[in-house]
Amino acid sequence: MSIAEAARLILEGGLVAFPTETVYGLGGDATNERAVAAIFEAKGRPQFNPLISHVLDAGEARRLVRWNDTADRLAARFWPGPLTLVLPRTKDSPIALLATAGLDTVAVRAPAHPLAQALIRAVDRPLAGPSANRSGAVSPTRAEHVAASLGDRVKMVLDGGPCAVGLESTVLDLTTAVPTLLRPGGATREAIEAVIGPIALSDAIPSGESTRKSPGQLASHYAPARPMRLGATTAAREEGLLAFGPDVPAGAVVTLNLSPSGDLAEAAANLFAMLRALDQPGIGRIAVMPIPQTGLGLAINDRLRRAAADDGTSRRR
Ligand code: TXA
Ligand code: MG
Repeated sequence: MSIAEAARLILEGGLVAFPTETVYGLGGDATNERAVAAIFEAKGRPQFNPLISHVLDAGEARRLVRWNDTADRLAARFWPGPLTLVLPRTKDSPIALLATAGLDTVAVRAPAHPLAQALIRAVDRPLAGPSANRSGAVSPTRAEHVAASLGDRVKMVLDGGPCAVGLESTVLDLTTAVPTLLRPGGATREAIEAVIGPIALSDAIPSGESTRKSPGQLASHYAPARPMRLGATTAAREEGLLAFGPDVPAGAVVTLNLSPSGDLAEAAANLFAMLRALDQPGIGRIAVMPIPQTGLGLAINDRLRRAAADDGTSRRR
């Protein structure tokens, strides 16, 4: 399965799952309303939740959004990489209206994975790319996860191996007076603040509540089928334990350790694959040890809270 073949599919309005350094994306031509509609359809995603447009670099992003100096400094430091910038749409922005769910802003990101870059280069236009999973389910960090979640809904999956970062990109809104963190992710708050100074946290972040500003921040997201217990310092027999660090309580039926040495980058890279591995018959509940709320821990804890939130709808994977 070649890049040329993938590019041809996309230019015909088809969908191709592709690896990025964060998670696998479900790619389609961001300028083609029908392709974008097919993405929402394949994911079962509510159409009020806008998509990220993936580009090669800041030069391309400038054609889609009203770029500014803050964006310039952030792109210089983080692109290509796990930072998504929300900026005002330009008047003649070619991005499909459906991709931005009717908002007057566009989210742009330059992914660091060589296959993602090769695909964008080959199609020579922005690629709309939500995570390649059914809406509400755990994001895919390996090609097999895409097939397990989307099945026949995606014709082609480019296999780039396991994702190095393992958590989705950080989404930063640059349309507010003070830049606002809409979703913590692979670029840490500390690293961003080192470049542009203090940023605001969206009210979605501590509470897990949805807000109008960040439509994708539904409380229940990344939901495994099993109930979750966070902050666990003990483990019960019916539980699968997601451990962190060297001191692991005994007693769980299965234990997987995000990072025995307590390294947050390693934990982030393992998070979704291990959540999936524990979401199996024979395990009654998933217990998760405490994760420090610094650096990548902000994003890891955000995803764990969403995985644990039960919004009353049926749980999916
Ligand atoms: O790492 C990632 O970001 C991955 C890879 C494939 O790039 N993509 C990803 O896309 O996670 P998705 O669709 O699962 O999440 C995109 C997030 C959602 O929370 C969405 O609400 C937000 O970005 N978003 C997109 N456009 C926006 C906009 N114009 N304003 C505010 N939030 C936006
Ligand atoms: Mg997603």
